Amino acid sequence: MKPVKTVTLVGAGKMGVKIAARAAAFGFEVHVCDVSQEVLEKARGLIRAEIQANCDDGMGKETPEGAFEKVAFHAQLSDALAETDLVIEAIPEILDLKKKVFAEMDRVAPEHVILATNSSSIPVSKIEDAVGRRDKVVNIHFYARWTGVTSMVDLMGGTESSEETMRRARKWVEGIGCLPLVVKKECMGFVFNRIWRAVKRECLRSWAEGCADYKDIDRAWMIWSDMIIGPFGMMDFVGLDVVYDIEMSYYLDSNDPKDEPPKALKEMVDRGELGPKSGKGFYDWSNPEFLKPGFAKPGKTE
Ligand SMILES: NC(=O)c1ccc[n+]([C@@H]2O[C@H](COP(=O)([O-])OP(=O)(O)OC[C@H]3O[C@@H](n4cnc5c(N)ncnc54)[C@H](O)[C@@H]3O)[C@@H](O)[C@H]2O)c1
Repeated sequence: MKPVKTVTLVGAGKMGVKIAARAAAFGFEVHVCDVSQEVLEKARGLIRAEIQANCDDGMGKETPEGAFEKVAFHAQLSDALAETDLVIEAIPEILDLKKKVFAEMDRVAPEHVILATNSSSIPVSKIEDAVGRRDKVVNIHFYARWTGVTSMVDLMGGTESSEETMRRARKWVEGIGCLPLVVKKECMGFVFNRIWRAVKRECLRSWAEGCADYKDIDRAWMIWSDMIIGPFGMMDFVGLDVVYDIEMSYYLDSNDPKDEPPKALKEMVDRGELGPKSGKGFYDWSNPEFLKPGFAKPGKTE
């Protein structure tokens, strides 16, 4: 079994940056690739800050400088995949786009490389038709924290994923200090996202149907759970465009009208109200202090 020593992130947006920083902090060689030159430029600073935050939290084995030296940035997919063992795709939650990128990854990656998706909802079995190496595909799904990622990761194979692929993926997940949540039977939403998704759907419906103010729902959640952020704050944090795509993905799978994301959410996305990344979502994120790594009071915006 060839251990994973080098990992490539395809997509250097919110999740690509966080996963790259975590892997580098734990001593893995990391390649990062994005179609946008502007995103790649920004990713350097963000990964440096995320690595620092990981190290400040006592995460990892490297010094911040040592970890950052492990990260290489590429505009071309073929360069990013030339010497790697595991690729994690972290591009938008659109099935056709993921299939297209998986086909390209399959074409250029060396034979032994595992192809993983960080998709929030799409089982890799819906993507695997795009590749030849169906024994080496897997869902490796991370959860974002304000800084970094949580120490748990969903793992789910496709219809032909080999035991060796699952073992290699699991070992890598453990190697970055995360608990693998192994999905026993294929399901949309994996182990924990399925639960979070039920919360999200009910919150969105309650708000869109005019049953309750989203701030009251968040306040209730925070008082009840003793958490510093409620579901609407969390959705802002995820990015409302990303949330909308994820909800659409569930809806397209089930065709159940109850799963259709509310029009009011789509209208917010169309107005560019995406959460911290655009300065406004359900909450006002215009204070740049809120966006600094380590800022831990997103629920205190109102
Ligand atoms: N946002 C979250 O909290 C969260 C949490 C867990 C999983 N996810 C999942 O992770 C994935 C990415 O989400 P995100 O929030 O990081 O999105 P994002 O919009 O922040 O980043 C996506 C990036 O992909 C890049 N991209 C688009 N097409 C590409 C291509 N062909 N090749 C390389 N790069 C390309 C874009 O330029 C962008 O930088 C989605 O599947 C999402 O569902 C998101």
